[in-house]
Amino acid sequence: MSSLRTQLLLWLLPLYLLSAAAVLGGNYVHYRNSIGAFMDGQMHRLALAYVQQFQTEPRIPALTPLNAEQVEHDGTVIVQFWSGNGRLLADNWPIPGLALQQTAGFHDLRIDGHDWRVYTTAAVSRVQVAQSGNFRRRVVLHSALEAAEPIAFLIPVTFVLLWIAVWFALRPLERVVQAIAAQDERSLKDLPLRRVPGELRPLVVSMNSLLARLRDAFAAQQRFVQDAAHELHTPLTALKLQAEILRQKLGASAPEEVARLEAGVERMQRLVEQLLRLARLEVVETQAMPAIIDLRAVLTQSLGDLVPLAEARGVDLGLTAAEPAQVRADARDVRSVFDNLLENALRYTPAGGRVDVSLRRMADGLQVEFSDTGPGIPPELLGRVFDRFYRVLGTGTEGSGLGLAIACSAAVRSGIHLELQNRRDGSGLLARVRFPHAA
Ligand SMILES: Nc1ncnc2c1ncn2[C@@H]1O[C@H](COP(=O)(O)OP(=O)(O)OP(=O)(O)O)[C@@H](O)[C@H]1O
Ligand SMILES: [Mg+2]
Repeated sequence: MSSLRTQLLLWLLPLYLLSAAAVLGGNYVHYRNSIGAFMDGQMHRLALAYVQQFQTEPRIPALTPLNAEQVEHDGTVIVQFWSGNGRLLADNWPIPGLALQQTAGFHDLRIDGHDWRVYTTAAVSRVQVAQSGNFRRRVVLHSALEAAEPIAFLIPVTFVLLWIAVWFALRPLERVVQAIAAQDERSLKDLPLRRVPGELRPLVVSMNSLLARLRDAFAAQQRFVQDAAHELHTPLTALKLQAEILRQKLGASAPEEVARLEAGVERMQRLVEQLLRLARLEVVETQAMPAIIDLRAVLTQSLGDLVPLAEARGVDLGLTAAEPAQVRADARDVRSVFDNLLENALRYTPAGGRVDVSLRRMADGLQVEFSDTGPGIPPELLGRVFDRFYRVLGTGTEGSGLGLAIACSAAVRSGIHLELQNRRDGSGLLARVRFPHAA
């Protein structure tokens, strides 16, 4: 994955190096001229001083011999005195191979691989001064490098600044990403356009139009399921009625097939009912602030409705709920969660078993638990039973596989936490519902 930062830096790095090289080259030429002119001036003045001294007192002055360090490192100027006929009379450092130059003025010479800057005077008894070319080059290079130093310092500083600037520039993009990640298929909201930079605006606008189309598609799908379930309702009721009439007419001689037909129609009716519930739950709606409800009251109602099922199945049903527990949530959603969990507990627990329901106040909110003595759910399937139409094979109990999907939708919609786990203290399932927003 190529990062925008790396790309920016990769583009800027050669640009910086190029400008650094240009500055260095420019500086070098500039310093070679200015430092060269200055050093030439010094050599010129030194030579003239010796010439004047010689003219006032025609005697070769005593010269202090130089050493290699002074010549090479310090760039001390070497002085030579020559006779008119080109014989070396005296010098303070030998340069074998350097003859008296025929023309007066400055000369650049290369002798035995060593560069020399030489100035020759025009007087009769001639003075010639020389300075190491290597020394001059070194001084120029050093000065040019020194002048380019700020650039070397600027490169890392600019990179850090650039890094920070890109980070700031990309923050709106991160906000957009967070807004997208926070989307829930049940409540697809437009992404905010506030504080989105111009470059990102077209992207966010297109995303919003895509979200609007998605919303329409979801709504159309839900309407379709709702309409289909609704349309199926009437013919199924009629069919059930016909089957009943048929059984009554046939009386005791009714074949077993009629009973199976009735059971089949009942199953179909339940499936259609569940589908209708699910479709209603998933309707995208802007939620108003839910009212405060008493969980114990809702739980008692739910239990009251399912007592006949408990009795029919021969399952012992008990409730532990000491005090009223108020919570801010949609009563229909809560009821939907309770009904489905309780119904499952009662239907999957074999006759003679127990279902315990408890309501407790915890440090982080209220908690309702449904625990049964049924077979539980194989651990690897605990995550799958919330899928629509998913049923564990071989339970011997009929169902449409939609109950937990409905409970889950209702829980998500109302911000309720729902989790299933197998009981550790024996066989059976423990369904835990947590309400973090206790009122
Ligand atoms: N208390 C439980 N004990 C054992 N298995 C359970 C329990 N609750 C759910 N299950 C398993 O999870 C599956 C999915 O449950 P879910 O309520 O979604 O569908 P269902 O009960 O099969 O059908 P319905 O839509 O009629 O409720 C069930 O088929 C069952 O195998
Ligand atoms: Mg169920």
